[in-house]
Amino acid sequence: MAITVQENGRLFTIDTKNTTYQMKADRYGVLLHLYYGRRTAGSMEYLLTYADRGYACNIYDTGRDRTYSLDFLPQEFPTSGTGDMRSPALILEYGNGIDACDLRFDHYTVRDGKYALKGLPAVYASEEEAQTLEIVMKDISGMAEVTLLYGVIPELDIITRSVLIRNTAEEEIRVEKVMSANLDQLTGKYDLITFYGRHTMERNFQRTPVAHMEQCIGSRRGTSSHQYNPMMILAEKETTETAGGCYAMQFVYSGGFSGNAGKDQYDQTRMQMGLMQEKFSYPLAPGEEFTAPEVIMSFSGTGLETLSHNLQDCIRKHVCRGKWRDQVRPVLLNSWEAYYMDFDGADILALAEQAALLGMDMLVLDDGWFGKRNDDYAGLGDWYVNEEKLGGKMKELIYWVHRKGLKFGLWVEPEMVNEDSDLYREHPDWAMTIPGRNPVRGRHQLVLDFSRKEVVDAIFESICKVLDMGTVDYLKWDYNRSIVDVYSHTAKDQGKVLYDYILGLYDFLERLTQRYPDMLIEGCSGGGGRFDAGMLYYTPQIWCSDNTDAIDRLRIQYGTSFGYPASCVGSHVSICPNEQNGRVTPLATRGITAMSGTFGYELNPEVLSEEEKDEIRAQIRRRNELAELIHFGSYYRLSDPFDGECSAWAFVSKDRSEALINHVNLEIHGNRPVTYVRMRGLESGAAYRDTESGKVYPADALMQVGLPMPAPFGDYGALQIHLVKI
Ligand code: GLA
Repeated sequence: MAITVQENGRLFTIDTKNTTYQMKADRYGVLLHLYYGRRTAGSMEYLLTYADRGYACNIYDTGRDRTYSLDFLPQEFPTSGTGDMRSPALILEYGNGIDACDLRFDHYTVRDGKYALKGLPAVYASEEEAQTLEIVMKDISGMAEVTLLYGVIPELDIITRSVLIRNTAEEEIRVEKVMSANLDQLTGKYDLITFYGRHTMERNFQRTPVAHMEQCIGSRRGTSSHQYNPMMILAEKETTETAGGCYAMQFVYSGGFSGNAGKDQYDQTRMQMGLMQEKFSYPLAPGEEFTAPEVIMSFSGTGLETLSHNLQDCIRKHVCRGKWRDQVRPVLLNSWEAYYMDFDGADILALAEQAALLGMDMLVLDDGWFGKRNDDYAGLGDWYVNEEKLGGKMKELIYWVHRKGLKFGLWVEPEMVNEDSDLYREHPDWAMTIPGRNPVRGRHQLVLDFSRKEVVDAIFESICKVLDMGTVDYLKWDYNRSIVDVYSHTAKDQGKVLYDYILGLYDFLERLTQRYPDMLIEGCSGGGGRFDAGMLYYTPQIWCSDNTDAIDRLRIQYGTSFGYPASCVGSHVSICPNEQNGRVTPLATRGITAMSGTFGYELNPEVLSEEEKDEIRAQIRRRNELAELIHFGSYYRLSDPFDGECSAWAFVSKDRSEALINHVNLEIHGNRPVTYVRMRGLESGAAYRDTESGKVYPADALMQVGLPMPAPFGDYGALQIHLVKI
């Protein structure tokens, strides 16, 4: 049993394999947070202290007892208007600007299995794998009921949280702020780890001390964004990859979000994650309910590596769905960096021919095949095939690609419209624009109003028409701007538009996955601008970045690995000099880097020499041999690519029977000291053989001292060593 309820139904303990989480509805019915950390037993109520502290206000029920204040007691779900002056997890507006909400415990339920959320993605698990705890709280005014949801997957040390808010008043109320997870720590010195970035340089690692201030990350772009990934880690000061306590929060949502952490006046730390508060004010009619998106939480007492493994395994097995979840992904050739939008049908068939000759599995036709789409000023929204440009019908193209023994993939960007399109000319109000103002453009396109069902329906229908022209094996779902003009031409209330937009997006994706269960969908947003657990529920892989330079990618993939498995990371080999930053790297290095993701190519093979083509054939063969290990093994960060002469990482199969060491040189010097790559995750006491050289190494020495790398000569050399246990 993961969930135990004691003390007359008021002490709630959640145990996972290695962690314990505890909370208690106290004598006033206030839900206090008692503990989250290494597994332990018993009541942790002894941790609470009470004192009459200056300027600490007291809830009315305490009478003359001034030692009880929510301004310093650790809370499970703090609200505004109770005397807790720290950041609230919930602000409800009851009309006339009244936002006092004082939630008290009402009842609870425990059941096997994991809760699901209406219209939203969420972690899923079987009855045997998970349990659910629901704690129902009521505002003392009687105007709102709040259900705190906890999902537990004990084996993975995962606890998920979500919140349902029901209007039990006679009038409309508004949800002004809701943070799906709040975590109060009574004591401890922490660092906050976050992942910031920009287009073509996503998820850079940042570690800052938690101080007496609130540090916030978030996105007000309507998407999870390139700028901050919706995941953060609170790590004890001394925490490293392999030691120390650390807590993760990861949002299962693809729209605007907000995360914060800070120390209060008594050196207690609060950490929160939830919806972006700006441009959000959700009206609820009497009886209506609001569902806050889910946060995945995990604690590791043995460093960041275990924390990442917990999150990666959770995403891989309990967020990603469908046929492709457990399958090695096809090696693809994508037309984007080969032709951009400047191609015809013969070019695409020639690409397919090359892909087949090189041993690839799939040809993907990227942007430019529809409407009048020859540059990015026109065509989005017009999802009909440009037969003139293709020199034939889509059906025929699909047929010929399949004839070459390849799968066929297609690019779409369903949420967007160009002003120069038939769709916009016919339905200008389908775009989000503010009346009386010129819209703010991004990549010269506008965002369609996916908060409206008729818009979602119409685009769904037009895209399905194309998908039904033949077997489309793969779809790349792109999204190439931020939302600025938050305005729906039919909504009575603009405060709900951004959230409803995301529901519309998820509805579309859900329908698509139901209708085409065999189709592999890859998410994308100018690369990794919507790389989040919400999208991964529908698209088991996401194009990680528009930056295909292997060296920048090492850093982007390093940051990504903190929360996401390699099987989700869309990663391709492109030509040199690289088309984003001009860097020149060996083809082997590009191959090794891209192999640590789904793998494919983004180039025109016709510009390659015969030697390069041979190298690509060999690369694909090797990738196919290693793909299971990479997709389903555990990922080890062996060095920090932001700091040091090399980047090293490894995959180890779950049964520890094989491992793959990857090493890329970042710097060269004359007469350089030897680099030893120190392994982790091997079976202690065992010996491993290098499948290429036949050399045998003792696992403990590999983990204690490491493997000496050959002296580097020339820029960015790379090496891959495949080890099998003997
Ligand atoms: C985005 C994607 C690219 C490509 C282009 C097409 O930038 O990230 O991979 O599909 O759009 O316009």
